[in-house]
Amino acid sequence: MQAWLCENPVGVDALVWKELPTPQPGPGQVLVRIHAASLNFPDLLIVQNKYQMKPDLPFVPGSEFAGVVEAVGEGVRNVAVGQNVACLAGTGGFGTHALAQAATCMPLPAGFPHVDAAAFIMIYATSHHALVDRAQLKAGETVLVLGAAGGVGTSAIQIAKAMGARVIAAASSEEKCALCRSLGADATINYSEHKPSGSLRDEIKKLTDGKGPDVIYDPVGGEFAEPAFRSIAWRGRYLVIGFAAGPIPSLPLNLALLKGASIVGVFWGGFSRQEPKASAAALAELAQWYAEGKIKPVIDSTMPMSELKAAYAHMGSRGVKGKLVLVNPGA
Ligand SMILES: NC(=O)c1ccc[n+]([C@@H]2O[C@H](COP(=O)([O-])OP(=O)(O)OC[C@H]3O[C@@H](n4cnc5c(N)ncnc54)[C@H](OP(=O)(O)O)[C@@H]3O)[C@@H](O)[C@H]2O)c1
Repeated sequence: MQAWLCENPVGVDALVWKELPTPQPGPGQVLVRIHAASLNFPDLLIVQNKYQMKPDLPFVPGSEFAGVVEAVGEGVRNVAVGQNVACLAGTGGFGTHALAQAATCMPLPAGFPHVDAAAFIMIYATSHHALVDRAQLKAGETVLVLGAAGGVGTSAIQIAKAMGARVIAAASSEEKCALCRSLGADATINYSEHKPSGSLRDEIKKLTDGKGPDVIYDPVGGEFAEPAFRSIAWRGRYLVIGFAAGPIPSLPLNLALLKGASIVGVFWGGFSRQEPKASAAALAELAQWYAEGKIKPVIDSTMPMSELKAAYAHMGSRGVKGKLVLVNPGA
């Protein structure tokens, strides 16, 4: 097998494409021949030693991938050799083969392409857990999605619309806002037009008749978190998804008191480990929504696996709309 190896986590430039021995699956594991792997924000952090999970060195990055099962270890019952699967393994995806825990693999129904499957679990499972479970979003409520044209952002728009909510999508360019409207967003805010961030509040107020959004989905953090939270509706739920902008914002707690609002942490990885049955049920519902055409990953572009470094650069410069997927030619 071949893979991008991280021997020294000092950044993308230090990754090397190497020939490695093909591993054999141990008990509960499967060996997957990778057809497609998507880039998620943690993949960017993990090769810089900036992610919460720090794998032993050397390791192959690539949290999420899809392909065909080539071998199964002892005790594996949920998948079989020859089956198409999507896997969220945390690492291993940026190569031709990877081991994964069978329990974390999603068997793919017919008609589920590898490219969509490789871009599915992380974003939709996160947004389902956030909006359905943590926010208890109801039809008719208004959701403000920040970073709305990114991976988790696009999935949040689609899930909120599937649940009958009104969506205001906020992103940093008109091009990104146009993508959000094409996904069903009812209104958009180009927040690069609202620097300093104070005028963002006026725009949110205008778009919600002064009431504010019931739910705010924030994967960005940074300078817009506080003005967004100041705009939230009575009994609003502010979903803490991530900090793509870098700095972790602080929010004045008196605002939560004044609005009767909740600041709600969302950690899908923890949820799937602590509550595996609820997590599996959510994934089954998402697979059903995919089959019904209610959700579909937005694929910015597919690139050959050999171009991983260019893919990382595209994501790091905020250029990606939806998901970037790397494919193994001829797999
Ligand atoms: N809590 C969980 O369980 C969970 C699960 C998955 C992901 N996450 C987190 O969610 C965040 C987004 O992940 P993603 O995979 O959707 O990433 P993504 O596709 O790169 O989207 C992130 C968005 O953040 C915005 N952004 C603002 N400042 C940025 C900066 N300095 N660098 C890069 N992007 C910036 C960009 O939108 P604009 O240009 O429009 O501002 C970009 O589209 C990450 O922090 C990730 O760790 C959390």
